Amino acid sequence: MDIKKIRNDFPILSSTVYGKPLIYLDNAATTQKPKCVVEEIENIYYTTNANVHRGVHYLSQRATDLAEESRVTVQQYINAKHSREIIFTKGTTESINLVAHSFCQQFCTAGDEIIISAMEHHANIVSWQLQEAIRGIKLRVIPINEKGELKLDEMKKLISPKTRLISITHISNVLGTINPIEEIIEIAHSRHIPVLIDAAQSVQHIAIDVQQLDCDFLVFSGHKLYGPNGVGALYGKEKWLNRMPPYQGGGEMISTVSFKGTKFNELPFKFEAGTPDYPAVIALAAAIKYIKNIGLDSIKAYEDELLKYCTDELLKIEGIRIFGTSDKKSSVISFLVGNIHHYDMGMLLDKMGIAVRTGHHCAQPLMEELGIEGTVRASVAFYNTKEEIDQFISGVKRVVSMFR
Ligand code: ALA
Repeated sequence: MDIKKIRNDFPILSSTVYGKPLIYLDNAATTQKPKCVVEEIENIYYTTNANVHRGVHYLSQRATDLAEESRVTVQQYINAKHSREIIFTKGTTESINLVAHSFCQQFCTAGDEIIISAMEHHANIVSWQLQEAIRGIKLRVIPINEKGELKLDEMKKLISPKTRLISITHISNVLGTINPIEEIIEIAHSRHIPVLIDAAQSVQHIAIDVQQLDCDFLVFSGHKLYGPNGVGALYGKEKWLNRMPPYQGGGEMISTVSFKGTKFNELPFKFEAGTPDYPAVIALAAAIKYIKNIGLDSIKAYEDELLKYCTDELLKIEGIRIFGTSDKKSSVISFLVGNIHHYDMGMLLDKMGIAVRTGHHCAQPLMEELGIEGTVRASVAFYNTKEEIDQFISGVKRVVSMFR
């Protein structure tokens, strides 16, 4: 990979903060956007702006065609069988809420159980807790071991005749653990239980084939995939989506409306009420094409190299604690040094131009499990360099020396 050339595609990476060159290591929160994505949004607004699926005129038809081409680009990116199995949403959070709401409405009654894990993001916890309150379902939680890996034996024990769905993250946004989703899906399917994969932290790092995985649902966000904010996708097997009721009512999700009763549209439109953010939908395709052009295999190999280098260098610092030490990890390192508060570390690194995330990372139950309030988290992308990691490490060392 020609990193120098790649970095030129991301103007923000050459900017400075507080007069220091920006070192952006908060990619798990959101990724920077290549010029082609931003230009695509500008291009759509300047040349093709019209509401989709709602006009016979040229611009509307053209915008519709581009948005539907984007659906096919997403379909191909994750190898879904049909483009109608791709629902555009605002992002991972809305995708999980959609499934929680519609799946539970159709398939769950009081006492039924949904299995999640101790390392889930709040989106994959609270969406189900809302259903606990509405429908009396119960959440069961797979525990983790000291390395930050799921205890699959415990998961097997949690499965019962009342289990309706397993909803699990592919890669933890805190621990970086790559979960054995193939095995989880196999175990679940042997008991006829569908599985939802939260791919928010994986779809930008690892090639995903939903047909090969055989997952029932998979969700992700555009903004973590070098694409625009406010757009994401839900993949769902047609057999589930067809049976699930709509999540929201409005335009486009209907075929006929009358005060005597309303008939819903077919997939995917049944789940896409209201005017979508079609410029973002279209620009998401530009992001996917950009990534495909570099190649996910090259991206993964390079990011793994950066992760290993960064981990090895951090481990040389006295008093360091890394949370998440699985052999199967991707792109994020959460840590604390001695008694230094994560906010102090984050704020001092910021003054050196280094952007990391601090806090509970929207995973408070995991923090509780780890017995901490929060961590400092560095997360890499393919545009980061070894030199940036060196700067980051010397930044951490500087903070440590200030406190000693
Ligand atoms: N879920 C995002 C993160 O982990 C925001 O930072």
